[in-house]
Amino acid sequence: MPSPSSGALVLDPQAFELLRKLIQARFGLVYTPETAYLLERRLAQRVMAHGLSSFFDYYLLLTESQPAALRERELTEVFELLSTRETYFFRESYQLEVFREVLLPQLYKQRPRGSTLSVWSAGCASGEEPYSIAVEIIESGLFDSWQVRIIGTDLSRQALHTASHGVYGPSSFRQTDASRHSRHFRPLTGRWQVSDAVRRLCTFQTLNLVRDDFRAIGGPVDAIFCRNVIIYFDRSERGKLVSRLAEQLAPGGYLFLGHAESLLDITTPLEIAHLGRELVYRKPR
Ligand SMILES: C[S@@+](CC[C@H](N)C(=O)[O-])C[C@H]1O[C@@H](n2cnc3c(N)ncnc32)[C@H](O)[C@@H]1O
Repeated sequence: MPSPSSGALVLDPQAFELLRKLIQARFGLVYTPETAYLLERRLAQRVMAHGLSSFFDYYLLLTESQPAALRERELTEVFELLSTRETYFFRESYQLEVFREVLLPQLYKQRPRGSTLSVWSAGCASGEEPYSIAVEIIESGLFDSWQVRIIGTDLSRQALHTASHGVYGPSSFRQTDASRHSRHFRPLTGRWQVSDAVRRLCTFQTLNLVRDDFRAIGGPVDAIFCRNVIIYFDRSERGKLVSRLAEQLAPGGYLFLGHAESLLDITTPLEIAHLGRELVYRKPR
């Protein structure tokens, strides 16, 4: 299990077990003996930064051997090192297309003009997903006189920092066509910033999907995008999260998961629904 990559520091099975449980309980992220080397590799720098000589001492530092505020601060460092924040604009674009072509016209017809449209991007990483949703809403041309609210949440402070500045390099645009690029982004010192019209629709907040109270989102939403997040969780945590997400959906609201993610082995309050050519999850009315 241990790899020689972290020099003298070896993650022995006892320390691995303690850290594994702590990380799963705090963040939902799952490590197995097969992926223990990742934990060892990523956390070795924190062990050394504190001048400690073992992962066990680091576990004690995270759980008891310093004041609670310092423990919490260190845990945020741990999350930054462990979370996978890979994302880009218009990822899994076929879902965004049915969102624009099928769901948005449905909502537009069902509600009086000038209503509120709310979408939550749960696990939004550096913001490309909520901004893509905002572009789809603007390009639908239906909601100019509505109050549109897109909430992006994540636990990574680094990711949310990028999200709130809205400035991106080329890798974020690997799936953005040229006309959208020029319509919704402006050049800024070799990078591009999201236009004010798009940014205006989005707000960002820190939220731990495993532990925090979802009422912080501020009321029921019409759709939740929680894509490429639960893939890192175990079955029981996935089930709990989806039930809690469902509580935040308005009746008839939709949950979009990533393509590789399914709820087939989980009991949830949601039903499977066809939205255009996509299978998604819907809260019964
Ligand atoms: C791979 S990114 C997905 C980003 C975007 N949804 C997409 O599909 O492109 C996964 C995100 O989930 C976040 N995440 C993982 N566990 C979390 C937790 N317990 N609470 C909040 N966010 C979490 C990570 O910080 C990361 O930004």
